[in-house]
Amino acid sequence: MSLDLRRLSVRIGNRTLVGDVSLSVAAGEAVALIGASGSSKSLTAAALTGSLPAAAQVSGHLRIEGHEVPLSVRRRSGVSAIRQDSLTALHPLVRIDRQLIPVLLRSGKAHTRPAAMAWMTSLLEEVGFTDPWRVLQSFPMELSGGQRQRVCIVQALACHAAVLIADEPTTALDVVAQQLVIRALQRATAAGAGVLLITHDVAVAALLCSRAVVIAEGAVLDHGSFEHLTSETAHPVARTLLRSGQHPVSPMITRGSNAAA
Ligand SMILES: Nc1ncnc2c1ncn2[C@@H]1O[C@H](COP(=O)(O)OP(=O)(O)O)[C@@H](O)[C@H]1O
Ligand SMILES: [Mg+2]
Repeated sequence: MSLDLRRLSVRIGNRTLVGDVSLSVAAGEAVALIGASGSSKSLTAAALTGSLPAAAQVSGHLRIEGHEVPLSVRRRSGVSAIRQDSLTALHPLVRIDRQLIPVLLRSGKAHTRPAAMAWMTSLLEEVGFTDPWRVLQSFPMELSGGQRQRVCIVQALACHAAVLIADEPTTALDVVAQQLVIRALQRATAAGAGVLLITHDVAVAALLCSRAVVIAEGAVLDHGSFEHLTSETAHPVARTLLRSGQHPVSPMITRGSNAAA
């Protein structure tokens, strides 16, 4: 199991914002964490990535690739965060190549700068860039939001994160850019990463993930396949949330399709 979270609880001040959340993501699997706005999806993500506010009191157990990771420790190895606002994830004043190449050199996948450049170019092509050299020579502001999200996914692939925590990675994007980001995340799962896709958009979740965990007010309501969650056997509130978020799946991309297509 890439990621195994048991009985997460987060308190800030006198409010329990996450009550009792358990979820797991296997290697090469994408799981959706679905909930309405304010249901504590981002706080759950912050607990997984070690970025909770300093005032938070946290309890529970987290295992990453079988190793117990104390939830109170801020540093995490093996976990990479992909945030809604990709502009803050990249240094605004540093060219993309100068941000990505050191990651690849540190990972030991490439030992020289030219080898790292070649590797990075192919990773960028894999996530749908037809002009990787131009991307590498750009500053973050010169790329669109969707392009920056894909650069962040490449960064996570380059450092061989076992788990990608993607918190609303497509919310700020148009439909075409959304699909490119979803394909890039499909690539990441095909490469063996576990992906937790956090979203309020059921249609986006259904494109990438085979199962979902539904939360409300910081507690898990139900979990399982989309078929289960929209059926009469699901928790009624989860079912309403899932059904209200259903849109026809775009023919351009379907779950499990080849990301290079
Ligand atoms: N740093 C914080 N301090 C106090 N309350 C917070 C903090 N961050 C989030 N919350 C509260 O926790 C709840 C869940 O927030 P969040 O995880 O951002 O929801 P979601 O991502 O599902 O929209 C909200 O009621 C929010 O006001
Ligand atoms: Mg959020």
